[in-house]
Amino acid sequence: FHFAAPVNEPVYSYAPGSPERVALKKQLAAFKAQEADIPMYIGGKEVRTGKTQELRPPHEIKHKLGQFHTGDATHINDAITAALQARAQWADTPWEQRAGIFLKAAELIATKYRYHLNAATMLGQSKNAYQAEIDSACELIDFLRFNVHYLSEIYNQQPYSPQGIHNRLEYRPLEGFVLAVTPFNFTAIAGNLPTSAALCGNVVVWKPADTQVYAANVIMKVLIEAGLPAGVINLIYTDGPLLGDVAFSHPDFAGIHFTGSTAVFQQMWKTIGTNISKYKTYPRIVGETGGKDFVLAHKSADVDVTAIALARGAFEYQGQKCSAASRAYLPSNIADAVKAKLVAELATMKMGTTEDFSNFINAVIDERSFNKITNYIENAKKDPKAKIIAGGTYSKAEGYFIAPTVIEVTDPHYVTMCEEIFGPVLTIYTYDAEKFEEIIATVDSTSSYALTGSIIAQDRYAIDLATKKLVNSAGNFYINDKPTGAVVGQQPFGGARASGTNDKAGSMLNLYRWLSARTIKETL
Ligand code: SER
Repeated sequence: FHFAAPVNEPVYSYAPGSPERVALKKQLAAFKAQEADIPMYIGGKEVRTGKTQELRPPHEIKHKLGQFHTGDATHINDAITAALQARAQWADTPWEQRAGIFLKAAELIATKYRYHLNAATMLGQSKNAYQAEIDSACELIDFLRFNVHYLSEIYNQQPYSPQGIHNRLEYRPLEGFVLAVTPFNFTAIAGNLPTSAALCGNVVVWKPADTQVYAANVIMKVLIEAGLPAGVINLIYTDGPLLGDVAFSHPDFAGIHFTGSTAVFQQMWKTIGTNISKYKTYPRIVGETGGKDFVLAHKSADVDVTAIALARGAFEYQGQKCSAASRAYLPSNIADAVKAKLVAELATMKMGTTEDFSNFINAVIDERSFNKITNYIENAKKDPKAKIIAGGTYSKAEGYFIAPTVIEVTDPHYVTMCEEIFGPVLTIYTYDAEKFEEIIATVDSTSSYALTGSIIAQDRYAIDLATKKLVNSAGNFYINDKPTGAVVGQQPFGGARASGTNDKAGSMLNLYRWLSARTIKETL
């Protein structure tokens, strides 16, 4: 059985007056009109503990969207038990049948729940309609469909059998349960981490970020409607460190599929290492853990291409993509022109709620992020080595709003050139246009991360040189484009160094991690 490569899900534009816009607005209003009471899902049952946390749109903190029920160690153990109980049957379910469930989920999102998922992402995570559409609709649908294609490619990879012998590889799921821990910033990632492991026949305990619960709940409902058997994916809301304590000391822990911070991932890895002799099998550790993504312009770069790559790459979704451009290196010959164009471009970006579709910039995710980001801005304001050339203003009266901020520095190792800020802050350094090779070395050595990066140039020699020398500096490398917006099936996504294990989401490389193959030789 071979499942051919699908085409990417078309992106709706939500143009003014379009039926899509009307439908999405209707769904936003419906979600706002009724407070949601969101349960956990353990062993196919909705679990309400009565211990709840409130959900509010980051751009309208006075409005209560609803509440979700949280669990303790008992619920974590229940989720693990439910997963393990479902394991044998799920692992033995013909893979075409498993695939059918996830393809059905993709279809349901495309045709029935698209506006639900987009509206949930717009309200819960403060993404504008377009950013929601490319994430919670298109990217999630693509993950679900392309993973089926990639898995079918893997299953078809079989060893050579000489005459008289039949060799085969049987791609079994891991022996135990997989833990999926997902971030707030992409609904598609939240959907992909549990479902990619489950598609391969694994059972999963899934914990999303607290700030992602509203959309996670919609994903779970879609999976259930698509026919996912009870216990295959168990969705729980609980304290992260507690989850680590319980899950990582369980003998059946078989893998972690994680997107989040480097610090949390390293702590997980240490705990897993400490417990290594307790497990039945060596766990798979797969993580994507942030970035300090660069845009490097060469003296031959087109001014407009550079400015637009910066404006969009740094400020879409308030700079909260792990792929977001956050440090720029401009050559002295065009630096002023690029900055002028960038500042002019930012002036056209309206900021406000996601329900007003004319806003490009919405709120950052929560107060903790707001405080962290504005702290960097305040420090830069006070520092004579830094100059704010755009933005620098913010308010949390209605929601967590921070104007797109550009900091200009004279030291390429200034703190905001090095540390991940995860917000709408771009730092620019201007280099001597004749010293391209030196700046390439600086780009490579400045950050411990290696997720995404761009080279903007018209000179082919410069493009080739940067591509070669920055080989370890970015897992996703873009030429004459912004460093964000990887499309499933086109640009497999992930980075190495402090950015993660580089097991490219949306590719065979990722799915291999959720399979434990058995080699069978039969003498005929
Ligand atoms: N896939 C996203 C991007 O490329 C990041 O996760 O922007």
